[in-house]
Amino acid sequence: TKLGVLVSGSGSNLQALLDACARPDFPAEVAVVVSNVGTAFALERAKKAGVAAVVLDHKAFGSRADFEKALVDTLVSAGVEWVCLAGFMRLLGADFLGHFPGKVLNIHPSLLPAFPGLHAQRQALERGVKLAGCTVHFVDPGMDTGPIIAQAVVPVLPGDDEAALTARILKEEHRLYPLVVKLVSTGAVRLEGGRVVTAAGP
Ligand code: GRF
Repeated sequence: TKLGVLVSGSGSNLQALLDACARPDFPAEVAVVVSNVGTAFALERAKKAGVAAVVLDHKAFGSRADFEKALVDTLVSAGVEWVCLAGFMRLLGADFLGHFPGKVLNIHPSLLPAFPGLHAQRQALERGVKLAGCTVHFVDPGMDTGPIIAQAVVPVLPGDDEAALTARILKEEHRLYPLVVKLVSTGAVRLEGGRVVTAAGP
C-alpha cells in the first residue's frame, strides 16, 4: 500500500512511519512526503530515507481549491492510496477528501473529542485532566472531528509541564500511528457509511 504523508513540522510521526515501513513484513511504503512549509525538518527525514519530498506552500496558491488540487495531483502521480496527516497544519476540504474517500488519516495529541485544535496538551494541563493521550482518526472536513480508529492513554503526572506531557504522548503516537496504518493497509479496519468497521479476525 502506497502512503502519502503530509507534514508541516518536525516529522517525528513521519519518522515512525518510515521506520515501520522499513520492516520487511510491514504492508505499506511511503511513496511521497508533502510539506506546506519549506523549512520543515520532516523534509530532511524523507530525503534521508530516500523518499520523494515535495514542498507545496499554500501561500503560493491563489485559493484553497488550487492548493488542494496541487496536493491531489502530487499524491495521485506518486500512486498514493492512503494519505496520512502527520503534524500537517492545514484543514483539508471536501474537494481534497473526495479524491481519497475514507482513506485519509490524522493523528492528534489528545483523547478526542476532548481538546481538538492547537495546543491540545496545554489544554489538557489547564483543564486538569488526569489521563491524556493520542487519537488516530479518519479525516473529515472538521478540525479533529472524524471517526475515531484508535487511542492510547498516558497519565498526567504531578509536576508535568507542557514539554513533559507532550513527550509522553508523542512516544505513544509513534507506536499507535504505524499500528493503525497496518490495520487499514491490510483492510482489517475501514470506514463504511461514516463508521469505523473492524473486519472479523481469523
Ligand atoms: C503531533 O503531536 C501530532 O499528533 C500533531 O502534531 C504533532 C506533530 O509532531 N498533529 P511531528 O511533526 O510528527 O513530530
